[in-house]
Amino acid sequence: MKLGQRLKAIADMVPSGSTPADIGTDHAYLPIYLVQQNIVPCAIAGDVHQGPYLSAQNAVASVHLEHHIFVRLGNGLEVVKPGEADVVVIAGMGGATIIDILRSCPEVTRTLKRLILQPMIAASLVRNWLHTHSWQIVEEQLVEEDGKLYQIIAAEPGESPAFETVLNEIGPLLWQTKHPLLQLHINELIKHLRGVLSAMQGSPDAVHSDKYREYASRLKELEDKLLCL
Ligand SMILES: C[S@@+](CC[C@H](N)C(=O)[O-])C[C@H]1O[C@@H](n2cnc3c(N)ncnc32)[C@H](O)[C@@H]1O
Repeated sequence: MKLGQRLKAIADMVPSGSTPADIGTDHAYLPIYLVQQNIVPCAIAGDVHQGPYLSAQNAVASVHLEHHIFVRLGNGLEVVKPGEADVVVIAGMGGATIIDILRSCPEVTRTLKRLILQPMIAASLVRNWLHTHSWQIVEEQLVEEDGKLYQIIAAEPGESPAFETVLNEIGPLLWQTKHPLLQLHINELIKHLRGVLSAMQGSPDAVHSDKYREYASRLKELEDKLLCL
């Protein structure tokens, strides 16, 4: 199994010898790669939808890994018993869905040693949730695949040092390590916010709203950060 750069970067964050649960596994590419490369002895692959669940089952059966990868149908962490997995991967979903999944099974979440999260949108929500729920961001990665930039966040139990709010958007470790794709990343965040503000300018009510002021000040903070690079 050869992974694309995004899934490969996620796989690189899975500790060797751990037992990961890949929630929202779709084709089970990640768990298959992890077991085939002997990075982990076994894994759980969960998906809430029948189609992806069947794809995962078929993919696992086609490489004869049914005794190492346990494919389960169900919502979020409901497919994992407390203590069964020590790492959870949730990739390719929105930030709000990722938080919902982590929040809805506290008895499982509290037994985990590492979270590996790849939000498609609203990464700042995820970082804020981690920060306020005693998860420390220990690794961050940016990956460009097919012209799109992806953020990957690994967190472990612990208290993170306080950081500026704008770093919730950018990623505190991406900023600290001056990731090679950081400039591109900040430019994308700026472009997105400019688009939101310009859409709001179509309505006088929106322009006078607290949200507009918040977005405008966030834009200014991001532009200032870009100048520091
Ligand atoms: C875009 S795919 C991502 C697949 C894979 N994780 C990746 O990053 O390539 C999202 C998958 O998450 C599944 N999903 C969405 N919400 C879920 C939930 N609450 N619990 C489990 N799976 C979920 C979908 O059925 C879909 O297969």
